[in-house]
Amino acid sequence: MSDPSPLLALDEVTVQFSGLTAVDHVSFQVRAGEVCALIGPNGAGKTTVFNAVSGNVRIHSGAIQFDGKPIHNLPPHIISGRGVRRTFQNGGLFAERTALENVLVGLHAAVPNNLFALVLGTRKSAALELEATRRAHELLDVLEIGHLAGTLVGALPGGQQRMVEIVRALATEPPLLLLDEPSVGLTPPTRTQLGVVIRRLAAERGIGILLIEHAIELVMNVSDRVIVMNEGRKVADSTPDVVRADRAVLEAYLGHA
Ligand SMILES: Nc1ncnc2c1ncn2[C@@H]1O[C@H](COP(=O)(O)OP(=O)(O)O)[C@@H](O)[C@H]1O
Ligand SMILES: [Mg+2]
Repeated sequence: MSDPSPLLALDEVTVQFSGLTAVDHVSFQVRAGEVCALIGPNGAGKTTVFNAVSGNVRIHSGAIQFDGKPIHNLPPHIISGRGVRRTFQNGGLFAERTALENVLVGLHAAVPNNLFALVLGTRKSAALELEATRRAHELLDVLEIGHLAGTLVGALPGGQQRMVEIVRALATEPPLLLLDEPSVGLTPPTRTQLGVVIRRLAAERGIGILLIEHAIELVMNVSDRVIVMNEGRKVADSTPDVVRADRAVLEAYLGHA
């Protein structure tokens, strides 16, 4: 079944690195308000799928559409500008900056013209700055880390750094959010909190979320759909219940059920 207007649609996408086929004719769709997990063993091609969607690697063949328009092989800033935001497997925050400042980077990335206003030092820029700061505080509050606004990111535990990174990616309310292993390094309670946040973003804000995740209980709890990859290929694409019941999939690709 294919939705007539999915938010994101991959059609037979193939990515090769000097002879190695990292992603092999992969097709799937993500709808607005849907949480879709991408799971599979290391080297399956999950991050490469993200890189293809966000424009960080070129696809060899196939097509990627966002909001009904082709985006494959466009530069990352153009794709980001259209509303596809991502987090990286190994973070990418400024450790020597506060949580608030890191979120402001996300907001400013969305309004490049702001730079000119800042350089010119106009009164309008001050108003924009104030508005961005208000918005950044509001977002930190939504994810329940408002009290950490003034803390240097480098001083935060891993879980809270992850939350800051998610807030930064979300700062401009992107229609589509790609999260690459967001629960790495999280304590079990923070992992649960992250799950709640992911569900809320999809349900309350209608954001489409594509989630790469190894924490299988988190995947099963938050996902509407689970896509399983192995050796560059998609080997399953179904509801968590169906994938969970597919012992062969779980044992072969995750090592445990
Ligand atoms: N930039 C790259 N250059 C060359 N090979 C790469 C690159 N990125 C990923 N690969 C290879 O592609 C395969 C899939 O990697 P990746 O997408 O990172 O898998 P996963 O995220 O599922 O662990 C691996 O064999 C990896 O070594
Ligand atoms: Mg990866």
